[in-house]
Amino acid sequence: MVEQRTHKPLVAGSIPAPGAAAPGPNDLTVKHPVPANVQTILDRACMDCHSNHTRYPWYAEVQPVRWWLDLDIADGKRHLNFSDYGAYSVKRATKKAEEIGSEVREHEMPPMTYSWMHPGARLTPEEIRLLSDWSARLRDELGAPKP
Ligand code: HEC
Repeated sequence: MVEQRTHKPLVAGSIPAPGAAAPGPNDLTVKHPVPANVQTILDRACMDCHSNHTRYPWYAEVQPVRWWLDLDIADGKRHLNFSDYGAYSVKRATKKAEEIGSEVREHEMPPMTYSWMHPGARLTPEEIRLLSDWSARLRDELGAPKP
């Protein structure tokens, strides 16, 4: 599937990473504006498996790689889909926000098998800290819904 690449900003003032697609109505960013520096990391390291905007690499044409990628993507999206995040219950969204922090701090995400083939997806300690701090803010935001 080839996504139409539009270059609308995801939130005012943010710069979409190359390949970033326009957000749908339930996209995370619709309810929870994401800082540009965090969005860039998410686009690079997470969105292939946790959004409806998968960018298949060239080798996805090769079976069974495509089959294997589809399994991982489907499973990743089932657990956490940033394109549906805005429709999650507060309870589910809060839990996922907490898990984002722990998964990246424990180097569980992005999965090692993915990083082998996408060295660019590896997170630096600084990026892990950025994602972890952002996920904590996201959780706090959900814990205190605005009137
Ligand atoms: C190659 C695909 C892939 C990439 C890239 C990826 N994930 Fe995942 N993710 C998965 C799969 C598959 C699961 C479910 C199985 C598991 O927990 O290992 C998962 C599970 C998770 C969970 C747990 C959700 C739950 O309910 O248990 C979180 C949180 C998460 N990922 C966050 C991230 C973040 C943040 C990034 C980027 C830094 C990322 N993932 C990158 C495939 C991916």
